[in-house]
Amino acid sequence: MIKRPRRLRSKEPLRRMVRETRIDKASLIYPLFVREGEKIREEIPSMPGQYRYSVDRLPEELEQVAKAGVPSVMLFGIPGEKDEQGSQAYAQDGIIQRALREAKRQFPELYYITDVCLCEYTSHGHCGLLRGQEVDNDPTIRLLAKTALSQVQAGADMVAPSDMMDGRVAAIRALLDEKGYENTPIMSYAVKYASGFYAPFRDAAESAPSFGDRSSYQMDYHNSREGIREVLLDEEEGADIIMVKPALAYLDMITRVREATKLPVAAYSVSGEYAMIKAAAQKGWIQEDKIVCETAVAAFRAGAQSYLTYYAKELAGYLDEGRIG
Ligand code: PBG
Repeated sequence: MIKRPRRLRSKEPLRRMVRETRIDKASLIYPLFVREGEKIREEIPSMPGQYRYSVDRLPEELEQVAKAGVPSVMLFGIPGEKDEQGSQAYAQDGIIQRALREAKRQFPELYYITDVCLCEYTSHGHCGLLRGQEVDNDPTIRLLAKTALSQVQAGADMVAPSDMMDGRVAAIRALLDEKGYENTPIMSYAVKYASGFYAPFRDAAESAPSFGDRSSYQMDYHNSREGIREVLLDEEEGADIIMVKPALAYLDMITRVREATKLPVAAYSVSGEYAMIKAAAQKGWIQEDKIVCETAVAAFRAGAQSYLTYYAKELAGYLDEGRIG
């Protein structure tokens, strides 16, 4: 036999030498939930090991994140009061705005990304303003732009619209530019599917829609060309990074998106992905660390450059130990 693929698998140094996918901690983004109140660190029932923090207790978690060597966080806010307009999303003293000021003061070395959406802030749980039973696109994007601006004014380094309204990237870009924030990047959740994988997040953020579902704005998971259309539109509107979400069931989209754009591609391993691994591991049916490594590498192998995951701190540890990367 002349060709024997096994030769390259014979020893660990050689296997590492020819490894095709390399990861480092610089790619990781850790999502965190901040809520109203004081002295609160409460575990999210459907996401064991993940917590909601009040602003005063957020820094202790940021310290852990920084210590693990994870350079960036994505912040989600849970306001005390929700209303029809989601007004706490763009209030100067809203939960995210206060959390940002405090976080930046104590841990200025971390990079802060904020989720831009109304669903955590609206009483009806939809991602925008309602007109009857419909989410009204154009007035919504004005509020999303206002939300992004108030987050940037409070210290956000980057904004990440996750609402899936048409034209939101352009609206956000225009307002940020007008106010002198032309260098603040936008990471667009461009390829975001209407997915059952978000259920634990909605539990965490108390943001499940009170009627209907999100399929009039998030994408139908039977479609892939439509995802590329979203990418091209967001690129034209000024997005700087394109996100695919969820990750594990959409690896094909990560690969396709990477081919369709020259922008960096991020993948979000969402709450349901975390919950599935956690639950099976707790039952002793799978080995958590192995599955976490394998699913993370899969996203990078598919073509992601950045990776949002609730396992970011653990992954940083596995990278330190040389188990992956
Ligand atoms: C807000 C938003 C959601 C997620 C990120 N931003 C929930 C949703 O669209 O219902 C999901 C993240 C996760 O499941 O981890 N629109």
